[in-house]
Amino acid sequence: MPHPLEELRKAALGEIEVASDAQSLETARVKYLGRSGSISAWGEQMKTLGKDEKPIVGKLLNQVRNVVTAATEERAQKFRAEKESDTLANIDISLPGTPHERGSLHPLTQMLDRSIDIFRRMGFALADGPDIEDEWHCFDALNTPPDHPARNEQDTFYLPDGRLLRTHTSTVQIRAMQAAPPPMRVIAPGACYRRDEIDATHSAQFHQIEGLYVDENISVADLKGTLEFFMRELFGPETAVRFLPDHFPFTEPSLQIHVRSKALKRGEQWIEVAGCGMVHPAVFEAVNKARGDAAYNPEQWTGFAFGLGMDRLAMILFDIPDIRLFAQNDLRFLRQFA
Ligand code: DAH
Repeated sequence: MPHPLEELRKAALGEIEVASDAQSLETARVKYLGRSGSISAWGEQMKTLGKDEKPIVGKLLNQVRNVVTAATEERAQKFRAEKESDTLANIDISLPGTPHERGSLHPLTQMLDRSIDIFRRMGFALADGPDIEDEWHCFDALNTPPDHPARNEQDTFYLPDGRLLRTHTSTVQIRAMQAAPPPMRVIAPGACYRRDEIDATHSAQFHQIEGLYVDENISVADLKGTLEFFMRELFGPETAVRFLPDHFPFTEPSLQIHVRSKALKRGEQWIEVAGCGMVHPAVFEAVNKARGDAAYNPEQWTGFAFGLGMDRLAMILFDIPDIRLFAQNDLRFLRQFA
């Protein structure tokens, strides 16, 4: 005669098998495996059994409990899978997906990337400096005397502690030379700040790429060659470049660079795009003094420097009429450069 536990197993497995949904399966589970279910009740009954019987029945009880538990779990899994495939069956895979907005680089960033790429091909390394500067790096070391108009409170943002928001990236020339002896060939892209009246061509924050090339026997010819190559790479091979005399305290001679190209919307017009010149010996001397050596001996080393207005270059290249567009975050504007 089969043991009552075996009968119980048979009955339980039968009910589990015929359970038609998750609910009737749960009813069966509680009936047999629940706290007061009939299989659980046998656990209580074990206490009443004799020494000989106990291990045999205990083993059988474990088997029955395991088999019934496994069968319940298997059936429950089947119901879950059915429910999932029902849900999936209701999804219309022919419906168009939710469109994903794709970002793009800001036109100024694109301009910067292109410019950096051209200079890197000519062997320029990247240098960096802080936006918040001291007067020495921004003016004194760059041979700019205390009474120079650029130092005026009307033109420059000063912090209460006397530091300032750099008015140009030329500060990085000084920092680079303090950090390493010549030869030196670096560019330094970054933001600059001036207390300008804001209009279509002036912004309180704008962007420059500074360049500095110091070596033996560097002349204006190297300066011209480098910047002409840059302008032609940027604006196309038919670009004309001209150099006009100018004045900056930190260069001698000083020049301004103009470009003209049929490829540009402004076609026949000459457009000023940069300032440049041969590094003034006084700048080398200031750096030497700060370094405490004579690494930049102006008798041995010469160099050229330049400052390119990035916003202006981008406005020319992309035919953008107003500098304020760069900072307004208007998607109608930005999307045109995606
Ligand atoms: N720092 C100048 C400016 O912001 C631009 C400039 C002119 C940079 C001549 C130079 C340079 O390095 O040699 O107007």
